Amino acid sequence: MQTNIDFQGLRVAVTGGTSGLGLALVRQLTGKGARVAFVARTAANVERVAAETGAHGIVADIGKKDDIYPIAMQVTANLEGVDVLINNASSLGPVPLALLADTECEELEAALAVNLLGAFRLTKALFGALAASAREGRGALVINISSDAAVNAYPDWGAYGASKAALSHLTAIWDEEAKPDGIRLLALDPGDMDTPLHALALPDADRSSLKAPELAAAEIIKKILNALPVRTALPAGGLA
Ligand SMILES: NC(=O)c1ccc[n+]([C@@H]2O[C@H](COP(=O)([O-])OP(=O)(O)OC[C@H]3O[C@@H](n4cnc5c(N)ncnc54)[C@H](OP(=O)(O)O)[C@@H]3O)[C@@H](O)[C@H]2O)c1
Repeated sequence: MQTNIDFQGLRVAVTGGTSGLGLALVRQLTGKGARVAFVARTAANVERVAAETGAHGIVADIGKKDDIYPIAMQVTANLEGVDVLINNASSLGPVPLALLADTECEELEAALAVNLLGAFRLTKALFGALAASAREGRGALVINISSDAAVNAYPDWGAYGASKAALSHLTAIWDEEAKPDGIRLLALDPGDMDTPLHALALPDADRSSLKAPELAAAEIIKKILNALPVRTALPAGGLA
């Protein structure tokens, strides 16, 4: 009987792994036996999550071009390759949120630098390792965390929404282009979650109406499982 790959030994990189959705992903993936490397900017939080989960923590800024290759080197060295990349780290742009007419160009640039260019650069830097994983029959998947702000024209969410719309479209095009390499790319909207990012954007929101990031992480993990190849046996050398 064919069974889907499970998470034992799966090599996963997560950006923004110390809070909200990213932290829930790191906890659940390591709990299922995946080998995880994660990125965030605040060293104390990276150390805390690494100690708690056993994942490999990387202190770096996805929005900084010069940080991308060192991140990719640490991911592939520590995990001995990579099967799944989750581009989750995100910038709101202006805080408090602002109308586009009141948004500084630098604030739009900051949202694009993290949400679009950062995800693009890290995917490019890991593309060869992902293609190698696909060739080995392990599967290769990039999950780009999007938002309903990518499709709905919410006033005040211009910088963030434009960056997420661009990320979603980039994902769809790259998914077509990467088919010959055996790499899949998916943009997923986790829904409105009770996280620090949401509190920063909408401090007066009714938190009881928001999804727990743990639930959103479990939903994403189910989608990862469905997107990875079905196999009857482990590839040579196993998945460890
Ligand atoms: N919360 C929602 O309602 C909601 C709704 C739809 C979509 N989303 C999306 O879901 C994803 C996760 O959001 P969240 O609410 O879980 O956010 P969050 O709680 O604010 O966590 C963000 C994480 O990313 C890290 N991070 C932020 N900027 C970074 C950078 N430039 N480089 C590296 N790491 C960075 C943060 O740590 P440091 O600050 O230490 O770097 C933290 O670990 C984002 O893509 C967001 O757009 C969220």
